Amino acid sequence: MDYEKVFRARIDTLRAEGRYRTFANITRRAGSFPLADRLDEHTGLQRPVTVWCSNDYLGMGENPAVIRQMVQAIEADGTGAGGTRNISGTNRFHVRLERELADLHRKEAALLFTSGYVANETTLSTLGRLIPDCIIFSDALNHASMIEGIRHAQCEKRIFRHNDVGHLKELLESADPACGKLIAFESVYSMDGDFAPVADICDLADRYGALTYLDEVHAVGLYGPEGAGVAARDSVLDRVTIVEATLAKAFGVLGGYIASSRSVVDMVRSFAPGFIFSSALPPAIAAGALASIQHVRQAGYLRERLYNRAAAVKAALADCGLPVMPSPSHIVPVLIGEASLCRTASELLLSDYGIYIQPINYPTVPRGTERLRITPTPKHSDAAIGELAHAMRQVWLRLELPMAEPKSPLSGGRNAVGLAAVATG
Ligand SMILES: Cc1ncc(COP(=O)(O)O)c(C=O)c1O
Repeated sequence: MDYEKVFRARIDTLRAEGRYRTFANITRRAGSFPLADRLDEHTGLQRPVTVWCSNDYLGMGENPAVIRQMVQAIEADGTGAGGTRNISGTNRFHVRLERELADLHRKEAALLFTSGYVANETTLSTLGRLIPDCIIFSDALNHASMIEGIRHAQCEKRIFRHNDVGHLKELLESADPACGKLIAFESVYSMDGDFAPVADICDLADRYGALTYLDEVHAVGLYGPEGAGVAARDSVLDRVTIVEATLAKAFGVLGGYIASSRSVVDMVRSFAPGFIFSSALPPAIAAGALASIQHVRQAGYLRERLYNRAAAVKAALADCGLPVMPSPSHIVPVLIGEASLCRTASELLLSDYGIYIQPINYPTVPRGTERLRITPTPKHSDAAIGELAHAMRQVWLRLELPMAEPKSPLSGGRNAVGLAAVATG
């Protein structure tokens, strides 16, 4: 077989569909976020850009206390963990961080993984294998890491329509009452920015004797009084069996975790291959995550500012007639609906306006719903929002992309700031 030919053919298909992925080479400037430098591959020169698609939702990636802790930890403990958690890889920062996470989510215990992806994949596959006659009920828009975990569990699975509590109820009702049941879902769906009806799903779990597994990857740090996520905001944390999240987005570092009862955590710790057979997080990463969480827990002002910025961006774009998709959260998706146009819009924003928004194409979102996904942060200024709205409008006009109805007859010249006050998050 000509393997090279096979691989090239697959890549050619991606290119033909406008879905070939190119990575912007970004140098982040600690202390100046969301400003960064992008390497222009043609000229070899660095060009300044404003990043509008980072999941460093609170700008914690440049927090001085976090940086200090990480530097100190590297100097004191060295670089890598030196092994798996079981074989010489556990250190004081892991232990403290797991205690902090358990406390944040009001659970008995927590367990670290090298990423949120690994946390989902290995926890779900382990639960599905170890719960007798398990059926996993999975939201149709769950993240790839949950889907892979459920697939590897090799148990029965039932997919419920996205956020459709009625459909979930039907599926639970039709399942054998004697079977183990686990409902897997997310609290904030990162591509549409919508929230799950967490309390309603917990009601169904109680009624049908199911466990709940909630991915709060796009919610930790951002919602709830201390940033424990949507379950905390909705006062249902005690009703969620397992919370899973990341240390790489609002907490600005790297890694994933689950928080749950002592027995669930002990079981995953003892049986999950993705935990057992992989080297532990470096001490400095755990130290940085710990400092970040401690900061974020008491930083309500950062959350308030994030909501304010998200509202301002939504209002500014809508005011320019851009088709902002309805999103009640901090995420601002703008519909384009075609892969090549989505890529071209992103390229024009970058080359002509120094605005970096990565295009989101299939399979991350369904075909026909390709979009630009904008993530405002507390660090995006009024001026930056005004520039974003202006640049996007120019690109929309140039590519003749469909506009939404302008919200205001005064639209166009008005800047984002005036509208921020009337917008809702
Ligand atoms: C919903 C969801 N879960 C899990 C993950 C994986 O988290 P991590 O980036 O820490 O691997 C992501 C990543 O974007 C995600 O969107």
